[in-house]
Amino acid sequence: MNHLREMQPEDIRPVFEVIESQDEEDAEEALAGYQEIGGTMDNYVMEVNNRVIGVTGYATPPGCDETHWLAWTYIHDDYANQGNGRIMLTELIRHLKDKGGRMLFVKVSDYVDEEDGAIYAAALHLYKSLGFIEQLVHKNYYEEDESQTILALRLKDSETTTEVETEDCPVEFNAVFEIAETDGAYSFGWHDEADSVFTPEDVSIGIQQARKDNARVVFLSFPQNYSKVRETLIASGFTQSGMLTDYFEDGVHEEHFTYVL
Ligand SMILES: CC(C)(COP(=O)(O)OP(=O)(O)OC[C@H]1O[C@@H](n2cnc3c(N)ncnc32)[C@H](O)[C@@H]1OP(=O)(O)O)[C@@H](O)C(=O)NCCC(=O)NCCS
Repeated sequence: MNHLREMQPEDIRPVFEVIESQDEEDAEEALAGYQEIGGTMDNYVMEVNNRVIGVTGYATPPGCDETHWLAWTYIHDDYANQGNGRIMLTELIRHLKDKGGRMLFVKVSDYVDEEDGAIYAAALHLYKSLGFIEQLVHKNYYEEDESQTILALRLKDSETTTEVETEDCPVEFNAVFEIAETDGAYSFGWHDEADSVFTPEDVSIGIQQARKDNARVVFLSFPQNYSKVRETLIASGFTQSGMLTDYFEDGVHEEHFTYVL
Protein backbone atom coordinates (compact mmCIF):
# COMPACT_ATOMS: atom_id res chain seq x y z
CA MET A 1 0.00 0.00 0.00
CA ASN A 2 1.39 3.40 -0.95
CA HIS A 3 -0.26 5.78 1.46
CA LEU A 4 -1.24 3.41 4.22
CA ARG A 5 1.09 1.73 6.66
CA GLU A 6 0.39 -0.70 9.48
CA MET A 7 -0.57 1.05 12.70
CA GLN A 8 1.99 0.71 15.50
CA PRO A 9 1.45 1.07 19.26
CA GLU A 10 3.10 4.54 19.11
CA ASP A 11 0.38 5.62 16.65
CA ILE A 12 -2.36 5.19 19.28
CA ARG A 13 -1.99 8.78 20.55
CA PRO A 14 -2.06 10.47 17.08
CA VAL A 15 -4.92 8.15 16.03
CA PHE A 16 -6.81 9.20 19.18
CA GLU A 17 -6.36 12.82 18.08
CA VAL A 18 -7.61 12.01 14.56
CA ILE A 19 -10.79 10.41 15.94
CA GLU A 20 -11.20 13.07 18.65
CA SER A 21 -11.21 15.80 15.96
CA GLN A 22 -14.43 14.19 14.66
CA ASP A 23 -16.02 12.72 17.80
CA GLU A 24 -14.73 12.75 21.38
CA GLU A 25 -16.81 9.79 22.57
CA ASP A 26 -15.72 7.62 19.64
CA ALA A 27 -12.10 8.52 20.41
CA GLU A 28 -12.44 7.26 24.00
CA GLU A 29 -14.10 4.04 22.82
CA ALA A 30 -11.51 3.43 20.13
CA LEU A 31 -8.70 4.03 22.64
CA ALA A 32 -10.26 1.57 25.09
CA GLY A 33 -10.56 -0.93 22.23
CA TYR A 34 -6.90 -0.65 21.21
CA GLN A 35 -5.87 -0.98 24.86
CA GLU A 36 -8.17 -3.96 25.45
CA ILE A 37 -6.81 -5.99 22.56
CA GLY A 38 -3.34 -4.76 23.53
CA GLY A 39 -2.44 -3.77 20.01
CA THR A 40 -3.27 -2.36 16.67
CA MET A 41 -3.37 -5.50 14.51
CA ASP A 42 -5.12 -5.13 11.15
CA ASN A 43 -5.33 -1.35 11.59
CA TYR A 44 -3.65 1.10 9.23
CA VAL A 45 -2.79 4.78 9.35
CA MET A 46 -2.53 7.30 6.56
CA GLU A 47 0.20 9.92 6.77
CA VAL A 48 0.64 13.27 5.05
CA ASN A 49 4.00 14.99 5.59
CA ASN A 50 4.80 12.55 8.40
CA ARG A 51 1.61 13.45 10.25
CA VAL A 52 -0.99 10.74 10.92
CA ILE A 53 -4.20 12.13 9.40
CA GLY A 54 -6.32 9.00 9.04
CA VAL A 55 -7.02 5.57 10.45
CA THR A 56 -8.82 2.53 9.10
CA GLY A 57 -8.64 -1.23 9.41
CA TYR A 58 -10.63 -4.40 9.57
CA ALA A 59 -11.74 -7.21 11.85
CA THR A 60 -12.22 -10.83 10.81
CA PRO A 61 -14.94 -12.89 12.53
CA PRO A 62 -13.70 -16.21 13.98
CA GLY A 63 -13.92 -19.03 11.45
CA CYS A 64 -14.65 -16.72 8.48
CA ASP A 65 -11.19 -15.93 7.12
CA GLU A 66 -12.42 -14.19 3.97
CA THR A 67 -15.12 -12.07 5.65
CA HIS A 68 -14.13 -8.72 7.13
CA TRP A 69 -15.74 -5.82 8.96
CA LEU A 70 -14.43 -2.32 8.44
CA ALA A 71 -12.97 -1.02 11.73
CA TRP A 72 -12.66 2.55 13.08
CA THR A 73 -12.34 4.73 9.95
CA TYR A 74 -11.62 8.42 10.41
CA ILE A 75 -9.88 11.30 8.67
CA HIS A 76 -8.73 14.22 10.84
CA ASP A 77 -11.23 17.06 10.53
CA ASP A 78 -8.51 19.42 9.19
CA TYR A 79 -7.97 17.03 6.25
CA ALA A 80 -11.56 15.82 5.67
CA ASN A 81 -13.52 16.42 2.46
CA GLN A 82 -10.36 16.65 0.38
CA GLY A 83 -10.45 13.13 -1.08
CA ASN A 84 -8.25 11.55 1.62
CA GLY A 85 -10.93 9.15 2.88
CA ARG A 86 -11.49 7.86 -0.65
CA ILE A 87 -7.74 7.23 -1.16
CA MET A 88 -7.45 5.53 2.25
CA LEU A 89 -10.41 3.20 1.72
CA THR A 90 -9.49 2.42 -1.88
CA GLU A 91 -6.07 1.25 -0.65
CA LEU A 92 -7.53 -0.81 2.17
CA ILE A 93 -9.97 -2.49 -0.24
CA ARG A 94 -7.12 -3.24 -2.66
CA HIS A 95 -5.12 -4.76 0.22
CA LEU A 96 -8.07 -6.97 1.26
CA LYS A 97 -8.60 -8.10 -2.33
CA ASP A 98 -4.88 -8.93 -2.65
CA LYS A 99 -5.00 -11.10 0.48
CA GLY A 100 -7.99 -13.07 -0.82
CA GLY A 101 -10.86 -11.33 1.00
CA ARG A 102 -14.35 -12.19 -0.19
CA MET A 103 -16.74 -9.80 1.59
CA LEU A 104 -16.29 -6.50 3.45
CA PHE A 105 -19.13 -5.31 5.69
CA VAL A 106 -19.55 -1.97 7.43
CA LYS A 107 -22.00 -0.66 10.04
CA VAL A 108 -23.16 2.96 9.89
CA SER A 109 -25.29 4.85 12.40
CA ASP A 110 -27.89 7.40 11.28
CA TYR A 111 -27.21 9.61 14.33
CA VAL A 112 -28.18 13.25 13.86
CA ASP A 113 -26.29 15.68 16.09
CA GLU A 114 -28.13 18.84 17.15
CA GLU A 115 -25.26 21.06 15.99
CA ASP A 116 -23.49 19.01 13.33
CA GLY A 117 -26.42 17.22 11.68
CA ALA A 118 -26.06 13.71 10.20
CA ILE A 119 -22.44 13.16 11.17
CA TYR A 120 -22.04 9.86 9.29
CA ALA A 121 -23.62 11.13 6.04
CA ALA A 122 -20.22 11.63 4.36
CA ALA A 123 -19.19 8.09 5.33
CA LEU A 124 -22.41 6.62 3.95
CA HIS A 125 -22.00 8.56 0.71
CA LEU A 126 -18.37 7.46 0.40
CA TYR A 127 -19.11 3.77 1.07
CA LYS A 128 -21.90 3.71 -1.51
CA SER A 129 -19.75 5.47 -4.09
CA LEU A 130 -17.03 2.82 -3.52
CA GLY A 131 -19.56 0.09 -4.35
CA PHE A 132 -20.93 -0.90 -0.93
CA ILE A 133 -24.58 -1.96 -1.11
CA GLU A 134 -27.08 -1.54 1.71
CA GLN A 135 -28.11 -4.95 3.08
CA LEU A 136 -30.17 -4.36 6.20
CA VAL A 137 -31.31 -1.72 8.66
CA HIS A 138 -31.67 -2.39 12.40
CA LYS A 139 -34.14 0.18 13.62
CA ASN A 140 -33.59 1.76 17.07
CA TYR A 141 -30.30 -0.12 17.36
CA TYR A 142 -27.85 2.15 19.20
CA GLU A 143 -30.68 3.83 21.06
CA GLU A 144 -34.31 4.78 20.42
CA ASP A 145 -34.33 6.64 17.07
CA GLU A 146 -30.73 5.78 16.18
CA SER A 147 -30.63 2.99 13.64
CA GLN A 148 -27.81 0.90 12.21
CA THR A 149 -27.39 0.26 8.50
CA ILE A 150 -25.13 -2.59 7.37
CA LEU A 151 -23.59 -2.36 3.91
CA ALA A 152 -21.53 -4.93 2.03
CA LEU A 153 -18.87 -4.84 -0.64
CA ARG A 154 -18.04 -8.00 -2.59
CA LEU A 155 -14.25 -8.31 -2.92
CA LYS A 156 -14.13 -11.26 -5.30
CA ASP A 157 -16.53 -13.01 -7.67
CA SER A 158 -19.00 -15.52 -6.24
CA GLU A 159 -18.02 -19.19 -6.56
CA THR A 160 -21.35 -20.78 -5.69
CA THR A 161 -23.28 -22.64 -8.33
CA THR A 162 -24.90 -25.37 -6.21
CA GLU A 163 -27.56 -25.06 -3.53
CA VAL A 164 -26.26 -24.94 0.06
CA GLU A 165 -27.63 -27.75 2.23
CA THR A 166 -29.45 -27.18 5.49
CA GLU A 167 -27.40 -28.24 8.49
CA ASP A 168 -28.84 -29.86 11.59
CA CYS A 169 -27.07 -27.64 14.13
CA PRO A 170 -28.20 -27.98 17.75
CA VAL A 171 -27.97 -24.40 18.96
CA GLU A 172 -28.12 -23.62 22.69
CA PHE A 173 -28.15 -20.17 24.34
CA ASN A 174 -25.54 -19.52 27.02
CA ALA A 175 -25.74 -15.76 27.78
CA VAL A 176 -27.90 -12.64 27.64
CA PHE A 177 -25.93 -9.42 27.15
CA GLU A 178 -26.18 -5.78 26.16
CA ILE A 179 -24.58 -5.16 22.76
CA ALA A 180 -21.48 -2.92 22.93
CA GLU A 181 -22.00 0.74 21.92
CA THR A 182 -25.79 0.43 22.39
CA ASP A 183 -28.13 1.64 25.07
CA GLY A 184 -30.56 -1.18 25.78
CA ALA A 185 -30.09 -3.41 22.70
CA TYR A 186 -29.46 -7.00 23.80
CA SER A 187 -28.44 -10.27 22.24
CA PHE A 188 -28.05 -13.89 23.36
CA GLY A 189 -24.76 -15.76 23.32
CA TRP A 190 -25.00 -19.24 21.79
CA HIS A 191 -23.03 -22.29 20.67
CA ASP A 192 -23.94 -25.06 18.27
CA GLU A 193 -22.65 -28.14 20.07
CA ALA A 194 -25.70 -28.80 22.25
CA ASP A 195 -27.82 -31.99 22.32
CA SER A 196 -30.81 -30.39 20.63
CA VAL A 197 -31.86 -27.04 19.17
CA PHE A 198 -33.35 -24.41 21.51
CA THR A 199 -37.12 -24.39 22.18
CA PRO A 200 -39.62 -21.49 22.42
CA GLU A 201 -39.33 -21.93 26.22
CA ASP A 202 -35.57 -21.31 26.03
CA VAL A 203 -36.22 -18.17 23.97
CA SER A 204 -38.78 -17.04 26.53
CA ILE A 205 -36.24 -17.42 29.39
CA GLY A 206 -33.80 -15.19 27.45
CA ILE A 207 -36.50 -12.61 26.72
CA GLN A 208 -37.53 -12.52 30.41
CA GLN A 209 -33.90 -11.96 31.45
CA ALA A 210 -33.52 -9.17 28.87
CA ARG A 211 -36.77 -7.59 30.12
CA LYS A 212 -35.45 -7.71 33.71
CA ASP A 213 -32.31 -5.91 32.53
CA ASN A 214 -34.47 -3.17 30.94
CA ALA A 215 -33.64 -4.13 27.37
CA ARG A 216 -35.53 -2.27 24.63
CA VAL A 217 -34.93 -4.77 21.89
CA VAL A 218 -33.16 -8.10 21.25
CA PHE A 219 -31.17 -8.78 18.07
CA LEU A 220 -30.08 -12.29 17.06
CA SER A 221 -28.33 -13.61 13.99
CA PHE A 222 -27.65 -17.14 12.73
CA PRO A 223 -26.37 -18.91 9.64
CA GLN A 224 -29.42 -19.07 7.41
CA ASN A 225 -28.96 -22.81 6.71
CA TYR A 226 -29.30 -23.86 10.38
CA SER A 227 -32.47 -25.92 10.53
CA LYS A 228 -35.30 -25.13 12.98
CA VAL A 229 -33.72 -21.87 14.19
CA ARG A 230 -35.90 -19.60 12.03
CA GLU A 231 -39.19 -21.38 12.75
CA THR A 232 -38.54 -21.44 16.51
CA LEU A 233 -37.63 -17.74 16.61
CA ILE A 234 -40.65 -16.72 14.52
CA ALA A 235 -42.92 -18.89 16.71
CA SER A 236 -41.42 -17.07 19.73
CA GLY A 237 -42.34 -13.61 18.45
CA PHE A 238 -39.14 -12.56 16.63
CA THR A 239 -39.38 -11.00 13.18
CA GLN A 240 -36.87 -11.60 10.42
CA SER A 241 -35.07 -8.28 9.92
CA GLY A 242 -32.86 -9.12 6.96
CA MET A 243 -29.88 -11.05 5.68
CA LEU A 244 -26.16 -10.46 5.20
CA THR A 245 -25.63 -12.17 1.87
CA ASP A 246 -22.77 -14.70 1.52
CA TYR A 247 -21.60 -13.84 5.04
CA PHE A 248 -20.12 -17.21 6.07
CA GLU A 249 -19.30 -18.42 2.57
CA ASP A 250 -20.80 -17.96 -0.87
CA GLY A 251 -24.42 -19.07 -0.58
CA VAL A 252 -24.44 -19.15 3.25
CA HIS A 253 -26.06 -15.96 4.45
CA GLU A 254 -26.43 -14.56 7.97
CA GLU A 255 -30.09 -14.17 8.88
CA HIS A 256 -31.04 -11.46 11.38
CA PHE A 257 -33.98 -11.44 13.80
CA THR A 258 -35.46 -8.75 16.02
CA TYR A 259 -37.72 -8.86 19.10
CA VAL A 260 -39.07 -5.53 20.38
CA LEU A 261 -39.79 -5.56 24.14
C1 LIG B 1 -15.97 9.33 6.54
C2 LIG B 1 -14.61 9.99 6.41
C3 LIG B 1 -13.54 9.00 6.89
C4 LIG B 1 -14.38 10.34 4.96
O1 LIG B 1 -13.12 10.94 4.81
P1 LIG B 1 -12.94 12.21 3.83
O2 LIG B 1 -11.49 12.45 3.66
O3 LIG B 1 -13.76 13.34 4.33
O4 LIG B 1 -13.58 11.61 2.49
P2 LIG B 1 -13.47 12.16 1.02
O5 LIG B 1 -13.12 13.61 1.02
O6 LIG B 1 -12.61 11.24 0.24
O7 LIG B 1 -14.97 11.91 0.52
C5 LIG B 1 -16.05 12.44 1.22
C6 LIG B 1 -17.27 12.33 0.32
O8 LIG B 1 -18.44 12.60 1.10
C7 LIG B 1 -19.16 13.69 0.53
N1 LIG B 1 -19.78 14.40 1.62
C8 LIG B 1 -19.22 15.25 2.51
N2 LIG B 1 -20.13 15.68 3.39
C9 LIG B 1 -21.29 15.05 3.07
C10 LIG B 1 -22.60 15.06 3.62
N3 LIG B 1 -22.89 15.81 4.70
N4 LIG B 1 -23.55 14.30 3.04
C11 LIG B 1 -23.27 13.53 1.97
N5 LIG B 1 -22.03 13.47 1.38
C12 LIG B 1 -21.07 14.23 1.95
C13 LIG B 1 -18.11 14.48 -0.22
O9 LIG B 1 -18.70 15.29 -1.23
C14 LIG B 1 -17.27 13.35 -0.81
O10 LIG B 1 -17.93 12.74 -1.88
P3 LIG B 1 -17.42 12.89 -3.41
O11 LIG B 1 -16.01 12.38 -3.44
O12 LIG B 1 -18.39 12.03 -4.18
O13 LIG B 1 -17.54 14.37 -3.71
C15 LIG B 1 -14.53 11.32 7.24
O14 LIG B 1 -15.52 12.18 6.77
C16 LIG B 1 -14.72 11.12 8.71
O15 LIG B 1 -13.77 10.88 9.44
N6 LIG B 1 -16.00 11.22 9.16
C17 LIG B 1 -16.36 11.06 10.55
C18 LIG B 1 -16.22 9.65 11.00
C19 LIG B 1 -17.03 8.65 10.24
O16 LIG B 1 -18.14 8.90 9.83
N7 LIG B 1 -16.46 7.44 10.15
C20 LIG B 1 -17.13 6.32 9.57
C21 LIG B 1 -17.92 5.65 10.62
S1 LIG B 1 -18.87 4.33 9.92
